[in-house]
Amino acid sequence: MSVKPFLQEQETATQLIVDNRPFLVLGGELGNSSAASIEDIERIFPKLQRMGLNTVLVPAYWDLIEPVEGKFDFTLIDKAIRQARENDLKVVFLWFGAWKNSMSCYAPLWFKKDYKKYPRAYTKAGKPLEIASSFSENVLQADNRAFSQLMEHIASIDKTEGTVIMMQIENEIGMLEDARDYSKEANALFNSDVSSALINCLTKNKKTLHPKMLEKWGNHGFKTTGTWQEIFGDDIYTDEIFMAWSYSQYVERLAQSARAIHNIPLFVNAAMNSRGRKPGEYPSAGPLAHLIDVWRCGAPSIDFLSPDIYDKDFAGWVTQYKLHNNPLFIPEARLVQGSGAQAFYVFGEHDAIGYCPFSIEGGSDNPEAPLVQAYAKLRELMPVLTKFQGKGMSKGLLFDQENKERILSFDDLTITTRHFFSLPWDPRATDGSVWPETGGLILRLAKDEYIIAGSGIVVEFKKNEENKISEVKELGEDGFASAGGNTQKQTAWQGSARVGIGPVDEITINEDGTFSYVRRLNGDQTHQGRHVRIGVDEFSILHVRLYEYR
Ligand code: DGJ
Repeated sequence: MSVKPFLQEQETATQLIVDNRPFLVLGGELGNSSAASIEDIERIFPKLQRMGLNTVLVPAYWDLIEPVEGKFDFTLIDKAIRQARENDLKVVFLWFGAWKNSMSCYAPLWFKKDYKKYPRAYTKAGKPLEIASSFSENVLQADNRAFSQLMEHIASIDKTEGTVIMMQIENEIGMLEDARDYSKEANALFNSDVSSALINCLTKNKKTLHPKMLEKWGNHGFKTTGTWQEIFGDDIYTDEIFMAWSYSQYVERLAQSARAIHNIPLFVNAAMNSRGRKPGEYPSAGPLAHLIDVWRCGAPSIDFLSPDIYDKDFAGWVTQYKLHNNPLFIPEARLVQGSGAQAFYVFGEHDAIGYCPFSIEGGSDNPEAPLVQAYAKLRELMPVLTKFQGKGMSKGLLFDQENKERILSFDDLTITTRHFFSLPWDPRATDGSVWPETGGLILRLAKDEYIIAGSGIVVEFKKNEENKISEVKELGEDGFASAGGNTQKQTAWQGSARVGIGPVDEITINEDGTFSYVRRLNGDQTHQGRHVRIGVDEFSILHVRLYEYR
């Protein structure tokens, strides 16, 4: 019998425990309309298993669950759970309730039509929006009742199996057109004093506030009483804080319902505030990194805030979300050729709970496809990675044409990691080929013993001391300086120890975390012992042992 999934700290990491073991979500999120028919669920889930996913993120549509007010239909939910079990998948349900990408498009028609009972948000100019007002108790009651019914239903059919491992509440909440709601109720609250609950919570966490929040509050003298504008200033960023407080308190009520019914991890997701846009131009007041303190204070029952990443600079966005008070889970990322590399990166660099490309059913289930290969290897790595999570023993690698190299340090070693195309003899580095996004991870098992895994990477080791001695060499594949162009410049050797590459073994990892030998890599495959590498067309796991010589 399995237990309910839960979160557990291990040093600096938060681990998701599923079936009594730390679990990494090797996931994918379904396209918005792909769980709206029994036939689609039947057809898609076996493909997800072939792709190597262990978890599928599935929308739970309010309009289909409660088509008639007070009458609930869980046919699609039941089908998704059954089909997941048959295909060895876990499920994360996404509550498409009052808000989906800011809008209220998934609210049932009876709710939408009764706009007097279920009021809309208004722009400053007084235009009603297709966005339910978070200030309305009626909106909350209707949304919360349907969500609670869903939780009751899941509890009734999944208590012993534990197929449903987490719930996302709403989807990309956020206010559009203006930074806040200008409904009558919202205006009255905006012109009243800021809730003492928020101020007390910010005061308590003052030392660790997000720099943006600290600056905004500090600019106005860290006042503890007054209206929103008196405490935070008169601008749209204050409007956004006000709105985030409303959304987060609303979500907290749903989260508390869920906890009381079926206590499993809960999260919210955010559309990024990218490309220099201002609140109102992007879905403002959602669970964005710069609003994390407001969301943490307003919705303490939510376990984490998650980024949906469709923009460039994947690594930059994830860094904003891996915070001391926020573990990293990526419910949506653009499904790209580099998705496999990105998955390796977030687990290696940020002890992530999971990674999920969006519209996953559109991906390839060919065993050679990068994501399929990546997930197969990450599944093997899971017992080893989770053993070391939170202990500062791993780093993630993510390379492309702009980011070719990263220098790392473990013990007394300087470890230079590079894109595979950086090898001086790789013609693709110079023939104008587009450099694919590549990546992986490096895990220190013990002194001079590493796992290096991923795709399209090259790794070199040096003693820190050795780096102080400058050596400039141009070497061909044979390891000799090129004829005629002998630019080799050697300074006097200082006599410190050097590090050598010992055995480099390609391995597979068994469920209990033990290693099985596949093949020894040496000769050309390690540039005669100078580096460790994995080509761009494969994902593999290497067990590398180093040694010292003088
Ligand atoms: C982010 C949303 O959360 C998804 O549901 C979907 O609408 C994608 N954007 C866009 O394709």
